[in-house]
Amino acid sequence: MSVTATNSDILIDKFGRTVNYLRISVTDRCDFRCIYCMEEEMNFVPRAQLLTLEELSLIGRAFVELGVSKIRVTGGEPLVRRNVLQLFQNLGQLPGLEELVTTTNGSQLPLLAADLKAAGVDRINISDLSKVLAGIDAAQAAGFEKIKINAVILKNRNHNEIVDLVRFAISKGLDITFIEEMPLGHVGTHDRAEAYYSSDAIRRDLEAIYTLIPTTESTGGPARYYKLTDHSDTRIGFISPHSHNFCETCNRVRLTCEGRLLLCLGQEHSVDLRHVIRSHPGDMDRLKQAIRAAMDIKPKGHEFDLSAKPVIFRHMNSTGG
Ligand code: GTP
Ligand code: 5AD
Ligand code: SF4
Repeated sequence: MSVTATNSDILIDKFGRTVNYLRISVTDRCDFRCIYCMEEEMNFVPRAQLLTLEELSLIGRAFVELGVSKIRVTGGEPLVRRNVLQLFQNLGQLPGLEELVTTTNGSQLPLLAADLKAAGVDRINISDLSKVLAGIDAAQAAGFEKIKINAVILKNRNHNEIVDLVRFAISKGLDITFIEEMPLGHVGTHDRAEAYYSSDAIRRDLEAIYTLIPTTESTGGPARYYKLTDHSDTRIGFISPHSHNFCETCNRVRLTCEGRLLLCLGQEHSVDLRHVIRSHPGDMDRLKQAIRAAMDIKPKGHEFDLSAKPVIFRHMNSTGG
C-alpha cells in the first residue's frame, strides 16, 4: 500500500494555500538567551506537559500521510531535548518525507552532527554565530553540504557586522540569511521599532562591496535568495516579514512542544493536538481529521506592528521561529 497522499488527502486552507511544511518545536528550553528571542529569566513549559518523543513522531507521521513533504525540527534549542535523536531517526524513516531539516544554535553539533546525518537529516540552519564555530565545522565534517547561517539584524547592535558575516559565509562556503526581527513576546533589552534594520538596508550595505543577483530559488521557506558574482557557493537570503510580506504564499504550520498546532507564527489560532491523541490513543483517523479541520482557521497572515506593544505574548522560543 502506498502511503503517499492522494489529491483528496492533502491540506489546503481557506485561502487556497497548500500546507506541506511542518515545523515541530520539541522544547522551549535553550542554552542561549538571544535578546531578540527571550528574556533573561523565562518560565519554561514543565516537562510533564511536553509531548513525548513517540507522540511527536506520531503527529509527524499523520502530517506526512496528509501530504507534508518537509519537516523542520526546532526549539528552543532542539538538540538540548533528551534523546531527541530518536525523533530524528523515526521521522527520517517516514516514506513520503522529502526533507527532514533542523534549525539549531549549533552548540550541541560537535556531539550530535554525525548522528543527525546518519538519521537522515538533509540540511541544517544554524543561528547565533558566536560560540558555535566548532559546531559549524563539525556539521561540515559530518557531510552536511548546504548549511545556512541565520542572522537576525538589529540596528546599532550588529548591523555593522553584516559584511563580516558574509565574508565569513563565503570563506566557509555557507549560505546566510538575514532576518528582520519579529515582535514576539516582550523583550526588555531594546525597542523593536528603533532596532528595525530593513532587508533593503542590508542589501544596500552589501552592494557597496558585492554584486548581488536576484534568483527565483526557493527552499519552501520564506527567504528570497540572491547570488554573488564570483562566489557561487554562497547564497544570500532575506527574510523580510515587515518590508516584503510573504504570508500569501505561506505553506507551513507549527507544532509546539505541548502539542498545540499553531496555524500562523504571528497569530494565536491553534488546535490542541495533545488533547486529541491523549483522549483517543491510537486513533489516527481522528488525529488526521483534527489536522484537516485546523486548515479552516489558518489566518490570512500576521499583523506585526513594531511601534505598538507586542500582541503575541509567546516568545520565539516556543515555536522555534
Ligand atoms: P529553509 O528551509 O532553509 O528555507 O528554512 P526556513 O527559513 O523556513 O526556517 P528557519 O528555521 O531557518 O527560519 C528562519 C526565520 O524565518 C526564522 O526567524 C523564522 O521565524 C522565520 N519564519 C519561518 N517561517 C515563517 C513564517 O511563516 N512567518 C514568519 N513571519 N516568519 C517565518
Ligand atoms: N525575530 C526574527 N527571528 C527570530 N529568531 C529568534 N527570535 C526572532 C525574532 N524575534 C530566529 C533565530 C533562529 C530562528 C529559528 O528564529 O535566529 O535562527
Ligand atoms: Fe535559543 Fe534560538 Fe532563541 Fe537564541 S534564538 S535563545 S539559540 S531558541
